[in-house]
Amino acid sequence: MMEMKGKQILVDPFISPNELASHIDISSLKPDVILVTHGHADHVADLMTIAKQSNALVISTFEVASWVEQQGHSNMFQMNHGGKREFDFGTLKLVNAVHSSVLPDGSYGGNPCGFIIESEGKSIYLAGDTALTMDMKLIPMWTKLDLAVLPIGDNFTMGIEDAIIASDFIECNNILGMHFDTFGYIKINHEEAKTAFQAKGKELHLLEIEESISL
Ligand code: NI
Repeated sequence: MMEMKGKQILVDPFISPNELASHIDISSLKPDVILVTHGHADHVADLMTIAKQSNALVISTFEVASWVEQQGHSNMFQMNHGGKREFDFGTLKLVNAVHSSVLPDGSYGGNPCGFIIESEGKSIYLAGDTALTMDMKLIPMWTKLDLAVLPIGDNFTMGIEDAIIASDFIECNNILGMHFDTFGYIKINHEEAKTAFQAKGKELHLLEIEESISL
């Protein structure tokens, strides 16, 4: 969950089936906006419940947002890769991610995405689930990032080594790690990961569930 311009923005809600977060009462979550990077179950598990109880605006790719509407939630907004738009919480640009995307019921999920959010003078890159990709080199042409949220768990996404290269591509040394530890095969050694980033003059933040950082 992020807070910008007084709006609460939730990204890829995967809470109740997540052993590390299952103690969180999702009925207490009332975001204004939900961003969805792709349709995999570990990103949309609690999406419809939270969207409906909060009437949050769900923003995603054309295919995922259309699926949300089919599930009975009309407060959604469809974007697609390369598109940029002003919202009340800031400016959002939808960017490439190299991954796959299918909804839990087998519906076509289109291409997965990442987001760049510019708000209150800060710029944040949410990579989504992705491999290292040359497209990341475009990002510094558009914005000067203050923080990048990169997957680091390997196996399904980039691992630490590639995330360090990604951090060079995007010209941002302030990294928040995601997509690690949730399942056995994406468990990482936290100290080793932080040391690997430090050795390249970069900082890797690894938050505990419900822990937060501010920019
Ligand atoms: Ni995924």
